[in-house]
Amino acid sequence: MLRTVITGTGSYLPEKVLTNDDLARMVDTSDEWIRTRTGIRRRHIAADGETTSDLAVRAARSALEAAGRAAADIDMVLVATTSPDYSFPATAVIVQERLGMRPGSVAFDLQAVCSGFVYGLATADAFIRSGQAGKVLLIGAEVISRLLDWTDRNTCVLFGDGAGAVVLEAQEGRGANADRGILHTRLHADGRYRDLLTMTGGPATTGTIGKVVMNGREVFRHAVIDLAEVLEEVLREAGVSPEEVDLMVPHQANIRILEATAKKLGLPMDKVFVTIADHGNTSAASIPLALDQAVREGRAAPGDLLLLEAMGGGFTWGASLVRL
Ligand code: UT7
Repeated sequence: MLRTVITGTGSYLPEKVLTNDDLARMVDTSDEWIRTRTGIRRRHIAADGETTSDLAVRAARSALEAAGRAAADIDMVLVATTSPDYSFPATAVIVQERLGMRPGSVAFDLQAVCSGFVYGLATADAFIRSGQAGKVLLIGAEVISRLLDWTDRNTCVLFGDGAGAVVLEAQEGRGANADRGILHTRLHADGRYRDLLTMTGGPATTGTIGKVVMNGREVFRHAVIDLAEVLEEVLREAGVSPEEVDLMVPHQANIRILEATAKKLGLPMDKVFVTIADHGNTSAASIPLALDQAVREGRAAPGDLLLLEAMGGGFTWGASLVRL
């Protein structure tokens, strides 16, 4: 049976760092409030003129190098993003051209907000296991700072920019949980809650980009419930117990969400990889950024069983069980 195996990871963070103290000079907030309510200490912010495709290309190059692959080897590039360079063409086609991928290879963007990377894994897995692509480059990349209202303390302290990427390749497996690759994924969405985390504008409504608005308390409540459910679902369906998980690599939205989710699952926090202090919430980029850091620090090694999960605007949410 064909499996979708992660053969390389990469990431890129913009140089500029914005600390909580910097933010306290811009809006009515404090380092203490941001740290204790969210776990965030600093975040990276793209330079003027630096775009999502710039970040994506850098993360992709580092993932390709780690996988020992050339851009020309890749059959499909998928960019999960909420902050594309343009409404169209897709950021993925810009990345395809800039990386020097084969003309005619598949390229498209995927919009599932903070769940974009997990949705992307499921999409890449479907293409690979149906034989439509042998090697896929999946990138989560965001310049979410351009979507923020920098006078709104409810949102501007939470987010950061960055990009992470993985190279995914078809490999034969035995159909067992000991196989390397994506073992099981579950995706969900519920549009009834779309107004709880949304933009104030869009190309076909206001003709503007708009700004992020969020009912933080409600999003928090749903996140804890939805994530616990989908994690339980994905583990049960795969026949895996929480104790077998080597490392959870979650979307990094709030340290208190990570702690509550781990507690519900009975997973100790030393099995949860946390990057939120330095990255903030980088939306679709947060899982691949954390994954690359975990791999490079030796916290995640080949053969390890990883649990990835995310929840975001839509609402969308999902989880994926992957053996590295
Ligand atoms: O990535 C996908 C989805 N996003 C999330 O998962 C985010 C989910 N939500 C959260 O992480 C949290 O709800 C927040 C961090 C956004 C807010 O934390 P909270 O503990 O839920 O605070 P709250 O919204 O209940 O607000 C508590 C107080 C309010 O003041 P009052 O009304 O009690 O007087 C806010 O106005 O904190 C105030 N507040 C702030 N104070 C200082 C809100 N933002 C700030 C701030 N600095 N930046």
